[in-house]
Amino acid sequence: MEDLQQKVNKQRLPKHIAIIMDGNGRWAEEKGEDRLFGHFHGVNSVRSIVEASAELGIQYLTLYAFSTENWDRPQQEVDGLMTLLVETIHKEIAELNEKNVKLHVIGDMTMLPDFAQAELKEAIALTSNNNGLNLIMALSYSSRWELINAVKNIGFDVKAGKINPENINQETFSQYLSTSNFPDPELMIRTSGEYRISNFLLYQLAYSELYFTNTCWPDFKKENLYEAIIDYQNRERRFGKTGKQISHIEHGS
Ligand code: FPP
Repeated sequence: MEDLQQKVNKQRLPKHIAIIMDGNGRWAEEKGEDRLFGHFHGVNSVRSIVEASAELGIQYLTLYAFSTENWDRPQQEVDGLMTLLVETIHKEIAELNEKNVKLHVIGDMTMLPDFAQAELKEAIALTSNNNGLNLIMALSYSSRWELINAVKNIGFDVKAGKINPENINQETFSQYLSTSNFPDPELMIRTSGEYRISNFLLYQLAYSELYFTNTCWPDFKKENLYEAIIDYQNRERRFGKTGKQISHIEHGS
């Protein structure tokens, strides 16, 4: 494990890593356990990955913890997930502060039960002065919700005369997204062998490197993250340019 960490090039870290934490349910079902057992173990992976990211010096980590579509799961699972989330955040606040982690939430917070909204607000306030890793929890989040929300708010601002439609560009648009304060992720990881984006950061992932692994989320630990970062570091990011152009840019000519 130590060895893999050393193989990560600390000069070329992605600033922002986004993760679809998938496979908790299947992991538990394979063991003949209830799906919530998988989510419960998934929390240990969240802890490991937050810790590894903070240790490495990653600046932003976005975790897809609950999608808009997840509200349609059986009520018992939804309730269990909400409780787990709130209890975990409550228990981990001291640790987050110790590690200088600043918590953010993206998503439709109004859909969350009152007790969850209150806990999250408190945790956000209590970690607001930290300036290490920014931990962004995507909760009751979906990209289509976010994009439609952005379009609506742009519409309102145009109507109010605050912006001129002629001047809308990528920068303006990004300001209306829930990620307006964060750079786009350079690396997106999805666990459990599913090859989909599932309504996650559709606009922001335009140029991200995508990394898929068969490992289910409860088994995804620090060394799995190092592997993903090393894989990312071995890729050539071209942003639509040619390889030759990129090597000129990298060499400063
Ligand atoms: C995906 O697995 C996982 C989720 C929907 C929830 C993720 C939540 C956690 C890891 C715990 C929450 C706690 C914190 C602090 C973020 P799945 O249920 O979709 O698995 P499946 O595809 O095998 O059914």
